[in-house]
Amino acid sequence: MRKTLIIGAGGQIGTELTAGLRLKWGSELIIASDLKTSKPEALGEGPYVTLDIMDREAVRKYVIDEKIEVVYLLAALLSATAEKQPDFAWKLNMEGLFTILDLAKEGHLKQVFWPSSIAVFGPTTPRDMTPQFTVMEPSTVYGISKQAGERWCAYYNAKFGVDVRSLRYPGLISYKTPPGGGTTDYAVDIFYQAKRSGSYSCFLSEDTALPMMFMDDAIRATLMLMEAPRENLRIESSYNLAGISFTPKELAEEIQKHDPNFSIAYTPDFRQGIADSWPRSIDDTYATEDWHWSAEYNLARMTQVMLENVKI
Ligand code: NAD
Ligand code: SER
Repeated sequence: MRKTLIIGAGGQIGTELTAGLRLKWGSELIIASDLKTSKPEALGEGPYVTLDIMDREAVRKYVIDEKIEVVYLLAALLSATAEKQPDFAWKLNMEGLFTILDLAKEGHLKQVFWPSSIAVFGPTTPRDMTPQFTVMEPSTVYGISKQAGERWCAYYNAKFGVDVRSLRYPGLISYKTPPGGGTTDYAVDIFYQAKRSGSYSCFLSEDTALPMMFMDDAIRATLMLMEAPRENLRIESSYNLAGISFTPKELAEEIQKHDPNFSIAYTPDFRQGIADSWPRSIDDTYATEDWHWSAEYNLARMTQVMLENVKI
């Protein structure tokens, strides 16, 4: 196993990715890091270091001194939060990526994972079964940063032989750590409110279909991609990845199968505009063909697991 650093490990994906990597490889060589000065409880046992990805020199020193070989770079602002601080979002989402890609280009890192998003697509993209290669005119600062990041990953791969791998994650649904300010967060909040009060006020309209995925599938996809032989990978930017697509109404109806008294109201806010610019469903044929991807969670299974595990 290669010595691995997860940057932004205290967030929704990082806590579960850290656990997934440690389950597979043991704790010793899997180092979690985040801005937070004390180790987030959700990270459990295992090495933790405070690192700010914006501090390029500190990150370089740590990676070189500690002989880190693999980096998972998760620190970023998500779509809804990024719209409130576009300058900072651009800076955070791009500068950290260059710090890590440069370390790999110089030979300090053997492999990098950097997540992209369905936000790379925009209002001119075909919205149903969105293909890997299509029109991409993102209209959010988050989407623009992800699209630019994808192009830089492909560039560092082609020009410098950097082994950087990436997934266009759909909205991720989990119960261990709260989501970090995305447009798809309603699909997590709804479970907390269902258990807390039996009702939910949704910030998207009832018929807004979006691509989503249960976290266990997302972690499995990440590990599969990172372990795939490089020669099998045809995509040098970021792979489309599909799980489940549903609307808030369909999710509410699924919850009502468990709790017939659950009620939902719709009060769309600025996030509706973001959601309307994204795909409704994703074609992930390349992931299926290149590294045998297939999601395991459907809407019914995801809903049941969420209702069983969400703690209020
Ligand atoms: P999150 O907001 O839950 O977690 C991000 C973590 O990064 C936080 O723990 C935060 O403290 C940390 N962080 C912020 N600034 C930092 C800095 N300067 N230095 C070090 N750490 C810093 O986000 P997430 O949902 O876990 O997303 C991780 C990545 O996956 C992001 O790039 C995001 O764009 C991408 N992604 C997430 C989703 C999703 O639905 N969660 C979907 C698509 C893509
Ligand atoms: N879940 C993310 C968001 O809504 C998609 O990248 O921002």
